[in-house]
Amino acid sequence: MAINFKDYVASVPNFPEEGVTFRDISPLMSDGEAYAAATDKIVEYAKSKGVEMIVGPEARGFIVGCPVAYKLGVGFAPARKKGKLPRETVSASYGLEYGESTLYMHKDAVKPGQKVLVTDDLLATGGTIAATIKMVEELGGIVVGTAFLIELNDLNGREKIKDYDIFKLMDY
Ligand code: PRP
Ligand code: ADE
Repeated sequence: MAINFKDYVASVPNFPEEGVTFRDISPLMSDGEAYAAATDKIVEYAKSKGVEMIVGPEARGFIVGCPVAYKLGVGFAPARKKGKLPRETVSASYGLEYGESTLYMHKDAVKPGQKVLVTDDLLATGGTIAATIKMVEELGGIVVGTAFLIELNDLNGREKIKDYDIFKLMDY
């Protein structure tokens, strides 16, 4: 029987602050069958886009992107938070549903002309994914798609990435 992915998301009211419902994907990740099924769906999408490289933002973008990269036999490059990458970087700042942040990528993380899929667990305001896309493009990569486990419709993050294709497994 097909997996209902929403059965593996824990919705936690008022976390990390009042008024935010946190969509926790850790139950999905801790179930081998559900994690594999979610990965396989994104792999199928990535194949349809001719993806050559995966990029994901710290930290949950790694959880989604790395198994996809492994299964496709392509590389994975992390977009990391401040002070983590030891070599020359590019950076992009963005606002979040809660707070503000800057992400960094190594300058050689993506090759010019490479077809890139950007992965994350969740699309909220779109700030994180837009910042990641900006860096990939600064490095010369071609963003052929974005893939999420979850899209939060009310925050309208897709407006920030309206020029890009979006794949998601579920929405709220
Ligand atoms: C969360 C989530 C996405 C981002 C979505 O990451 O994993 O990356 O927020 O929000 P946005 O669409 O409004 O940018 P967070 O910054 O909390 O970091 P984490 O993955 O390290 O927990
Ligand atoms: N990142 C940004 N908003 C989030 C939410 N509501 N749940 C989980 N992760 C998030």
